[in-house]
Amino acid sequence: MVNNNWSLQPADVFERSPVVPVMVINKLEHAVPLAKALVAGGISVLEITLRTECALEAIKLIKQEVPEALVGAGTVLNEEQLQQAIDAGSEFIITPGASVDLLKAGTQSGVPMFPGVATISEIMTALELGYKHLKFFPAEASGGVKTLKAFAGPLPKDIRFCPTGGISPKNYRDYLELDFIDCIGGSWIAPSDAIEAGDWDRITGLCKEALANI
Ligand code: 3PG
Repeated sequence: MVNNNWSLQPADVFERSPVVPVMVINKLEHAVPLAKALVAGGISVLEITLRTECALEAIKLIKQEVPEALVGAGTVLNEEQLQQAIDAGSEFIITPGASVDLLKAGTQSGVPMFPGVATISEIMTALELGYKHLKFFPAEASGGVKTLKAFAGPLPKDIRFCPTGGISPKNYRDYLELDFIDCIGGSWIAPSDAIEAGDWDRITGLCKEALANI
């Protein structure tokens, strides 16, 4: 769908990087070096989850300091968080599920939203509201590639998915091989122990390795 309220179209986000890091930032001082490490590794679409106290501040800071990155908010659960994420400068929004009120608000907001879905009924709800670019979450726990292939039968051919949840270096290529998948998301690319240790080179290396093996 083309949504004229949105500053970017969903394909601009989905097609920019095959691997999207799902980032959990516990300390604000980690935000910029982490974003720079990811960009240095060739990944410039960043999902910052609103699971930590400093997440909104981290979005603001990364937008200011790392202009090469396209910065989005993940784990957006309700309209209040949607507004906070947009106010912080998020350039896209990812939700874990498909609440109708939130999805309706997303169509009116200024940036693209990617609703989380795990069932055909949730996909149908998202489609009714005009969404065709969806997060498949939690991917592995919901049956992974097998489930996505089963979804493909009855669904319109122009739906695109970004699977996340349980994606790892072992299985990410299996998802990217499917022709209705543009990108996958995962936290393995920005592991919490590397962030905590300030091991930015390791994170850059994980990005390079993931991209090189596609
Ligand atoms: C998400 O929000 O997309 C997931 O929590 C990421 O899942 P992972 O930690 O299994 O990659």
